[in-house]
Amino acid sequence: MIEASFARDLLIETKSNRNDLVTEVDQAVEALFTRYVNKNFPEHRIFGEENAAHKLTTLDGPVWIIDPIDGTLNFVEQKRNFAISVALYIEGVGEFGVVYDVEKDELYSGERGNGAYMNGEKLLQVETKEGLADNLLIANVSAVKLYPKLADAIEASRGLRLYGAASLEYMAVAAGRAGAYLSANLAPWDVAAAKIIAEELGCVVTRLSGEEINMLEKGTSLVAMPHVYEELRSTYLK
Ligand code: IPD
Ligand code: CA
Ligand code: CA
Repeated sequence: MIEASFARDLLIETKSNRNDLVTEVDQAVEALFTRYVNKNFPEHRIFGEENAAHKLTTLDGPVWIIDPIDGTLNFVEQKRNFAISVALYIEGVGEFGVVYDVEKDELYSGERGNGAYMNGEKLLQVETKEGLADNLLIANVSAVKLYPKLADAIEASRGLRLYGAASLEYMAVAAGRAGAYLSANLAPWDVAAAKIIAEELGCVVTRLSGEEINMLEKGTSLVAMPHVYEELRSTYLK
């Protein structure tokens, strides 16, 4: 469905600001998952980005947290660097998640306690490079504005990267291509699936403050390999 849309003009609408976009493809992909869940698991609830009617106030029972296209701006501008993100939480605990990089045809999946996979191949926990100095950092400007010392962390690191799709930034850290990803304002659907996969690969995932992420609220996000996490929290996130 997404690839077929590449050949035509998209219907693009803006949401909270001129770079917060939704297209008819985002809505159609979410509607597809919604139909599948309703048909196969009628008692499960759905928490999807594009279906505002479904504002949840609790995570009781089974809840599917869905971002039909994470990185819509990239989808519109680049036709790459975006992903589908689907997670199943039960009583607030992340049980299963998939992040699908459509253009690369890379399907990351993770199940709590059972490891993580990419296109069916088990992913191994990465050998972590020594300190921050040996790791690429992924961060957005808002995170640096919130914690100005992060500018020093970036300088101390191996370099700065940003791809523009939170779930894929998480996968970059989980797969060992970067040491950490820091963001100031992510929604539950941006991180729900990616968190499960990253944790299965040994990453630590919290708010920038070190608090647990509550999957009902937007907020900051930090995913990192343990020693990079410690270094960032103790020196730069003050
Ligand atoms: C966005 C992307 C982006 C992040 C934004 C998100 P969307 O998701 O993940 O990388 O910086 O905060 O909203 O809106 O394209 O699904
Ligand atoms: Ca998103
Ligand atoms: Ca989205």
